[in-house]
Amino acid sequence: MERIKLHDKVFEVSIPSEKIQEAVRKVAEQISRDYNGDDCPVFLSVLNGSFMFTADLLKNIEFNSEISFTKLSSYEGTSTTGKVHELIGITKSLKDRIVIVVEDIIDTGTTLEKLVEIIGAQQPREVKIATFLFKPEAYKKDVKIDYIGMEIPNDFIVGYGLDYQELGRNYKDIYTLVSE
Ligand code: IMP
Ligand code: MG
Repeated sequence: MERIKLHDKVFEVSIPSEKIQEAVRKVAEQISRDYNGDDCPVFLSVLNGSFMFTADLLKNIEFNSEISFTKLSSYEGTSTTGKVHELIGITKSLKDRIVIVVEDIIDTGTTLEKLVEIIGAQQPREVKIATFLFKPEAYKKDVKIDYIGMEIPNDFIVGYGLDYQELGRNYKDIYTLVSE
């Protein structure tokens, strides 16, 4: 089993990149069934974690759409702080637009709830949520998640954009923390 060490912790591969790419294609197919170039949705990618999913997803979207980025953070180390910081605000006008939020992972839903509130203030036509990973056991909010790549157990993972204290984002596979 392939392992990596990030700071003081050891992680082992849990989702290989082939499985990841297959799930990404499925999300792109679902979105493509619901929207087309006439809708010209705005994909709003939430940095930093979702940069890889955003790139792979958008390579599989074959209709006219726009992309914008925002940056929020709520995590410190391996757990959520409950407080969400807006580090880069939304620079594009979302008024009357169809907005598809692109998230790497939805855990408790704290970040998502805050983001939906920020987007809502701009009076978009419609807001949809696409996340690559979803932890159903950790989710505490009521915001509907429209597109999910994979549901995963409530473990701490890294890779494919996700980090442990900023390390691990560059790996193409997903790794799970090995319990001490
Ligand atoms: P939430 O606000 O609790 O839903 O947390 C969402 C954010 O926390 C994600 O966008 C990630 O940045 C981070 N996060 C949640 N779970 C993990 C994980 O297992 N590994 C790395 N980061 C995570
Ligand atoms: Mg994130």
